[in-house]
Order: sequence, then C-alpha cells, then structure tokens
Amino acid sequence: MKAPEQVETARLVLRRPRAADASDIFDRYARDPVVTRYLSWPTHVSLEETRAFLAFSEGAWARWPAGAYLICAREDGAILGSTGLSFETRLRAATGYVLARDAWGRGYATEALAALVGIARAVGLRRLEALCHVDHQSSWRVLEKCGFEREGRLRRHSVFPNLDEPGPCDVWCYATTFD
Ligand SMILES: CC(C)(COP(=O)(O)OP(=O)(O)OC[C@H]1O[C@@H](n2cnc3c(N)ncnc32)[C@H](O)[C@@H]1OP(=O)(O)O)[C@@H](O)C(=O)NCCC(=O)NCCS
Repeated sequence: MKAPEQVETARLVLRRPRAADASDIFDRYARDPVVTRYLSWPTHVSLEETRAFLAFSEGAWARWPAGAYLICAREDGAILGSTGLSFETRLRAATGYVLARDAWGRGYATEALAALVGIARAVGLRRLEALCHVDHQSSWRVLEKCGFEREGRLRRHSVFPNLDEPGPCDVWCYATTFD
C-alpha cells in the first residue's frame, strides 16, 4: 500500500518533495551547520548535493510505500524542514527529522513525527526506529513524546560527519512498534 503524498496536521503539511524544492531546502536548512550538527549527512555546500538528496528521495518513493516528506507551514506552505520513512524491509523503517532554526521550539517536530507514526501504521510497518546521538536531548525528547521507547545504547555505532569526533559515536536506539 502506498502512503499518501500529503498529510495535514493542525499546523503543518507533510508532503512529498519536488525537484523545484531544491533551492528552498538548501537555503532553509541543508546548508546550515548549526542545524546539521547532529545529522548523519554532511552539511550541504552546493545545491547539487540538495538535488542529489531529492533524486534519492524519488528513488525511495518509487521503490517503497513512502520516502522523504517536507514539513511545511499549513498557513502559507513555507518549507520548515523534512522527515520521512527510510524502509529497510516492508515491515521495518527508520526515521529522522530536521527543522530550520527559526522553526525550533514550537512543537513542530513532535507534531510532524506524530503524523509520520500514523503514516507508518497505515502502510503496515511493524517497527519504526530512530537513532540519535546520546548528547542530543531535544531529539530524544521528541521521540519520547511520540511514544518511542529507548531500547539501548549502540556503542560506537554512527559517524556524525559534522561533529569534531573522528570515529563513530554512541547513539540511543529508539523504536515504536505496531501490532
Ligand atoms: C531536534 C529538533 C528536530 C527539535 O525540534 P522542535 O520542533 O524544536 O522540537 P519540539 O518543540 O517538538 O520538542 C523539543 C523538546 O525538547 C526539549 N528540549 C529542547 N532543548 C532541550 C535540551 N537542550 N535539553 C533537553 N530538552 C530539550 C523541549 O523543551 C521540548 O520538550 P517539551 O515539549 O517537553 O518541553 C530541532 O531542534 C532540529 O531540527 N534540530 C536540528 C536537526 C536535528 O538535530 N535533528 C535530529 C537528528 S537525530
């Protein structure tokens, strides 16, 4: 079953990205080193990198029930950030979220993730997981507010290319499951 390409919440619209979104994504958050500090992908330095992300997202949407979603303001459609489902199998996927700096601290990540959990359930996922750096409290707070449970510490698991740490770092593994 394919996921809807657009979902509305009280204040947000989650929608499938389009090629024309590249420059807004680049300007709003992908090139911001503060925003990308704890992300698994390097801060974008050229629009080509943002276009490559959009091509990757198209491939995911073609192959799986869903892929990336842009998080937009319902009021005027402005791009605030992105989230999505990264399928590992038809039953298991990972998620993450990123917001432009001026959109932090208003509950948007929690509102977007709650909607994404609904999408995950609707497409038949049995497990949705998320990894985050052990120091990144605001991120794991969002996960906990959306009902994810902390399953454990994965030691030396993930490289964070925008941190000054050379090797892989410890992460918390969170997941929510669907019966
Ligand atoms: C992490 C991020 C998504 C949070 O988005 P947000 O919309 O501000 O999150 P919300 O407002 O929904 O919730 C944040 C929660 O963390 C809490 N929080 C914020 N900073 C915190 C800190 N330093 N320590 C502990 N809790 C913190 C907030 O108080 C809030 O919890 P509350 O509702 O119980 O008060 C956003 O800051 C972001 O995009 N950061 C950059 C990208 C990123 O790091 N993504 C996550 C990668 S794993």
